[in-house]
Formats: sequence, structure tokens, C-alpha cells
Amino acid sequence: MNNLPIGVFDSGVGGLTVVSALKKMLPNENIIYFGDVARTPYGIKSEHVIKRFSLEITSFLIDRGVKIIVIACNTASAVALSNLKQRFKLPIIDVIEPGVNLALKTTKNKNIGIIGTQTTIQSRSYQEILQRLDPQTKLVSKACPLFVPLVEEGWFDHKVTRMVAEEYLKPMKDIGIDTLILGCTHYPLLKNVIQEVMGNEISLIDSAYAVAQDTKEILFKLNLFNKNDTIPYSEYYVSDDPMKFAQIGERFLGEKMNMVYQIDLEKTHLKGAIYV
Ligand code: DGL
Repeated sequence: MNNLPIGVFDSGVGGLTVVSALKKMLPNENIIYFGDVARTPYGIKSEHVIKRFSLEITSFLIDRGVKIIVIACNTASAVALSNLKQRFKLPIIDVIEPGVNLALKTTKNKNIGIIGTQTTIQSRSYQEILQRLDPQTKLVSKACPLFVPLVEEGWFDHKVTRMVAEEYLKPMKDIGIDTLILGCTHYPLLKNVIQEVMGNEISLIDSAYAVAQDTKEILFKLNLFNKNDTIPYSEYYVSDDPMKFAQIGERFLGEKMNMVYQIDLEKTHLKGAIYV
């Protein structure tokens, strides 16, 4: 069981921000990643569709034999987490609670902002978790639906991205937040532009490292660390063009993605999945 990979998924390249953190924090672990590039963006789709996609991908990853699942997508975490936890027995980690915890540790004036996809913001998941963890802290939210396609296009530092960021974020600057949660795993790829528009006095929260830390703690608790001495592997699966995914992914991960496969989930036979 210990040398089985960690399964990670997202609607596209955004979840690679989490993979990058996992690789740094858990360098001995094998990773299998699924990026649903054919169906991205998730953030403008309805809850039942995102639940279905998340279920298909989780089943696929379990079929590949993973020991833990990391939902490296805020949108899927917001709408599908409880559903997946009910259906599958293995540990499942999401990105929302680690992000809120980190924001609470960072804020000084208890005024936090959250930006995310339309579906994440509408789900009010961040509000619910914050209410449970610290009801005194105020949260203002803003959906930024154009950010995901800009990232998928690789326009991390493009003038169009800067214009879009100004349009979305300028109103957030004036409401007194000192901390801004990047509530979508694609957004850390736009960190420079977002920081420029918000100003250096605002702390940006990228939950990737907090998620990697939580993953480490769970693997430790369950005695699931990979103890093999062999060089760990990372396999990437995508639902559309693997070349474009690898080009953008390599730019970001800073390493060659040797194993990128295209796969049609609908045709994959999901034998062996652990349904409860
Ligand atoms: N990166 C995902 C998230 O964290 C999904 C973005 C999308 O596909 O809309 O929300």
C-alpha cells in the first residue's frame, strides 16, 4: 500500500500548483494527476455536472490504484467533496479548509477576501467553513470567471490578463481586506499580476502548501509514507491534447513531464473501484 501513488485532480493545469507543493513537501511520493482539460472550466458549470465529473475522475484514479485523493480544485471541493467522501473509503483531501486556516493565521484585521470561480463563490463553502472556524472574521467574495481560461491559455503575464485583473480586483482593494484567498488552484499562476493590482500590503493566500502539509500529516497518521528507495514517478492524464497541457505544465513545474497520456474517461472501464 505505501508505494501506491497519491491521486490528484483538477479541471486542467491549475491543480499542478498543488502537485508542485506536494513534490516539494513529499519528494519520495509517486503521483498520478488527472487534468480534465476537455471539460474545463468547471467553475461555470452546474453542481450536478461537477459532481458527476468528480465521481468519474475519482473512480479512474482509484482504478489506477492510488492510496489517497487530493482534490486540487476548489470548485470540485466546494460541490463534490461530501459526495465523494460518502462513496469512497480512501482518505480524500480538499483545498478549501486548508486555505481558510492559512488565511486566519495570516489576517491581522479579520477582513478577508476570497476570489474564485462562479460555482465556488455561489456555493458559499468558504463562508460556511469560516463561520465554523472563526465567526468574528468578515469575508467578502468575488467571482473571477475569466481567470481560468487565461491560465489555460498560458497568459500568466499578459496585458489582457492585467486588464481583466484590474476590472475584477479594483473594487476589492477599497474594502479594507488585508488578506486575499486565491480560491481557485489556477489563480496562483496569476500571482504576480494579482499582487501588482492588489498592492504589496495585501497577503495572498495560496492553499497549495497547506494542502501538501495536510496530505503529509494524513500519510503520517495512517503510516502510508512511501518507503521504497526507487526514484518516484509522476504520471499525468488529460482528457484532451496532452501537448498543450505539457507545454504549460512544464513552464510552471520547471521540469520535464515525461509521462502525459490522453484518456477518454467515458470509455475507461472502471473495474475495481471501491464503491461503498
Ligand atoms: N482550478 C479549479 C478551481 O480551483 C477549477 C477552475 C475551473 O475549471 O473553472 O476551482
